[in-house]
Amino acid sequence: MDQHDDDFSSSRRSLLKNGGAVIASGAVAGMAGLWQAGAHGVTPGATLPVRQDIDSMDPGKLAKVEAAIKEMKERSKKKATDPKGWTVVAKAHADFCAAPGPSGEKQVHFCWWFLPWHRAYLAVTERKIRELAGDATLALPYWNWSQNRRIPARFAKPGSSLADAVRFTPDRDLTDGEVDYFPFDPARAKLRVAALGATKYLAEKKAEIGSVFGGIARPNNLGAYGNSRLEGTPHGPIHNYVGGRNGSRGGDMSDFETAARDPIFFAHHGNLDRLWEIWRQDPAHRKTEPDTKDFRQHPFLFTWLDGKTIEVHAEETLDASKLGYAYDSLVVAGPPQVAAVESQEKKPRLPAIASARVKIPPAAGRGDGTPRKYSLRIDGIQAPADNVTATVYVKPASDTGDHPGIAIGTFSAVRTGGRIVFPDTTLKFELSQATALLRTSDIVVTVVPLALGAEDKRPHAPLRYKSITVEPDE
Ligand code: C2O
Repeated sequence: MDQHDDDFSSSRRSLLKNGGAVIASGAVAGMAGLWQAGAHGVTPGATLPVRQDIDSMDPGKLAKVEAAIKEMKERSKKKATDPKGWTVVAKAHADFCAAPGPSGEKQVHFCWWFLPWHRAYLAVTERKIRELAGDATLALPYWNWSQNRRIPARFAKPGSSLADAVRFTPDRDLTDGEVDYFPFDPARAKLRVAALGATKYLAEKKAEIGSVFGGIARPNNLGAYGNSRLEGTPHGPIHNYVGGRNGSRGGDMSDFETAARDPIFFAHHGNLDRLWEIWRQDPAHRKTEPDTKDFRQHPFLFTWLDGKTIEVHAEETLDASKLGYAYDSLVVAGPPQVAAVESQEKKPRLPAIASARVKIPPAAGRGDGTPRKYSLRIDGIQAPADNVTATVYVKPASDTGDHPGIAIGTFSAVRTGGRIVFPDTTLKFELSQATALLRTSDIVVTVVPLALGAEDKRPHAPLRYKSITVEPDE
């Protein structure tokens, strides 16, 4: 008899009860299940289903995704524990991405699990959508926010299952900073998403976390957690942009506990996952991906289509083709449209949350004429009270004009279960070309929050930090 069950806690119990027992069956053990199990698994050797940019996606395919998500939502209304329902899907993210604190045992953010876990999560969800649509060639859309700086129209159509979410999205385009684009710096501008410039996956010490592509090991004997380069920005700011801010709360995407209720979550993470594929194209990058047993054999648990728990190991996520999908393009994006850049300049700016006069130390100690590279660092940062996305600007101290200067980086604080978890007590931003453009060692640094909704007319609290300094990179 089909038990009507709307209670989350009993769904958790059954998940735990199934954990372990089912895994050994082999039928859906690990990601082989994504290929082989069920009517709409992908046969090895067959053409892979292709994840497409939502703005150019085949309309028939997109309509199938939309209908499948609609069905998933209806299934959950009838029975919250339906394994093919949207509630079970969204709850998986709440369980692992909103686990208490940055160091919580189940936590998959702020560490090396960020990319592999979300990859496995998307693949499992995609597999459910594929089955409900009855189309073995179906794949998730992704949102290429480097190019399309607004919520894609298909996610905003009233009445669509893709628009059915709580959002307080501000009425503006995503800024260059939010999508990690640095037009003033040719080397980084070429990458489109500057995070792709990270040369290694794994951080070996706390100070490295913010500049590596993948994160730091968990657990680690330093007790260190934090946002990797990609997880920090662009990942966080796009959560905040879509969810927005409404008083003390934001929309679904503004809190990791509710984020995956919004179908756009899967298109945002699809694009991040695509960036991982782009980064992986360089064999030198791939070589830096962790190869230890700790990493490779680490199990992620998911609810499979039949309600049983499957175990996906981190190593099974390294080859996307084994998870049954490919991307339509491994090119980041063309240059952003000029219109987008212009319109953001016209928007009124919010009052700064930090401002400091800083000296760039003299470029001593090299003497070989090579230009030195500098980073700007903000140390001793305390978690902001509210969702915030802010851009850091620099300009010569002699410039008393009304503009903040050159944008050198953007960071964000996103909620986790109602409060801000912000493990990065230090933020570091590459100054690179900016030092040449400024032509002075006496600068002013300004941190300016971005509007996240109508409520942002209310000023943000000042950023609490210990120091802002510029230091030469080793
Ligand atoms: Cu687990 Cu973008 O969040």
